[in-house]
Amino acid sequence: MGPKSLEYFSVLNYSLANEDTAVELSILPRDANCVVCVAGSGARVLPLFAKAPKSLVCVDVSPQQLHLTELRIEAAKTLGLDDYRRFFGYGSQPFSAEERQEVFGRLNLSTDTKISLAELFSRSNWGPIIYLGRWEQAFGKLARFAARIIGPSGLAIFHCRTMDEQRQYLADKFPRWRWRLAVALIGQSYVFNRLIYGNQLPQLNLAKSDYCYFNDRLASTLRVSLARENFFLKILLRGRLENDEALPLECSNLHYSEIQRGIKSCAISYVQSDLYEFLEKNPSIANFVSLSDTPSYSGSATSAPNIMQKLNVGMATGGLAVARYFRFCPPTTQLDELEDVTIKYEKVISSEITCIYKIGVFQKVEGRTNNRYPC
Ligand SMILES: C[S@@+](CC[C@H](N)C(=O)[O-])C[C@H]1O[C@@H](n2cnc3c(N)ncnc32)[C@H](O)[C@@H]1O
Repeated sequence: MGPKSLEYFSVLNYSLANEDTAVELSILPRDANCVVCVAGSGARVLPLFAKAPKSLVCVDVSPQQLHLTELRIEAAKTLGLDDYRRFFGYGSQPFSAEERQEVFGRLNLSTDTKISLAELFSRSNWGPIIYLGRWEQAFGKLARFAARIIGPSGLAIFHCRTMDEQRQYLADKFPRWRWRLAVALIGQSYVFNRLIYGNQLPQLNLAKSDYCYFNDRLASTLRVSLARENFFLKILLRGRLENDEALPLECSNLHYSEIQRGIKSCAISYVQSDLYEFLEKNPSIANFVSLSDTPSYSGSATSAPNIMQKLNVGMATGGLAVARYFRFCPPTTQLDELEDVTIKYEKVISSEITCIYKIGVFQKVEGRTNNRYPC
């Protein structure tokens, strides 16, 4: 395990998705030679196969996150979309415990993964997999609390069927003070540290207070997409994804068969490592790097130059990297060859449906100096 700030990641923290991978999927060029992707639950990896990369390296400091990622990839290889959803626990008709255990037994997993996940799943009586992570469990509890504060009149946002209807509802009927109260009570570092992050929540430099950060970002979430189709809002306010209307990209009708084809033609590997150590040890390996919000967790201003230098080493010329920032964006840093190309992708970035992250895109360009890694 790497620095102390990564200790939080040593257990199963994520079993679902709290990023909208539509951004990374849109930026990733088709048929890339090598994609390097922070694994997380695997739900942030899976959509990338739709662009048929030739090889994909899943990297995570946590072995359990890698096991879950392998499970998702192996499940997608063999299960149709309906069974994939039911196996993981999505929707109104998830598999029973017996069905899940039986399907799990048929998947072609490595021995380590099989043993570790069987133990994890049997501890939860083979219940839905997507709610097992520390993050998902905490949000299950917070959602019940949030729903009580905003009340039925606030939850009525999920009844709107069109964006016009939702805009009208937000203007006329949305209980704003209840919403603000929920944000003020829940969106606080001490709540997150206590319930999830164990004092390793990234420090805040993207807003002047916790309240401003969450209030502004959640206001955007309500604006950019229909709430009833937004899986992230459903998790925040209901704690569960109990129907097929709001699902993360990994199991969307639109991409699933492309994902399946992509998995079959891709050389996939799993590496338990700090992402930046991996990139430093493998110069020019990556044509595309999906960093998740690891820069926010990589400590402090002083560690920023370090991670960007390592990213630079690991990227091939012309390669792209997508970084997310949750609460904390490392301050301006001198870079060698990484150009900030975020502006080119503004349209897709502004349609990201969680709205909780600031997003940056970098391209490795030969022979450039003195660029800046801005925030
Ligand atoms: C960065 S977390 C982000 C999840 C989510 N967006 C959030 O902030 O709650 C996603 C995954 O990254 C892994 N991780 C964090 N820092 C890492 C690093 N420096 N190298 C490799 N994996 C890392 C964690 O174990 C976790 O599975």
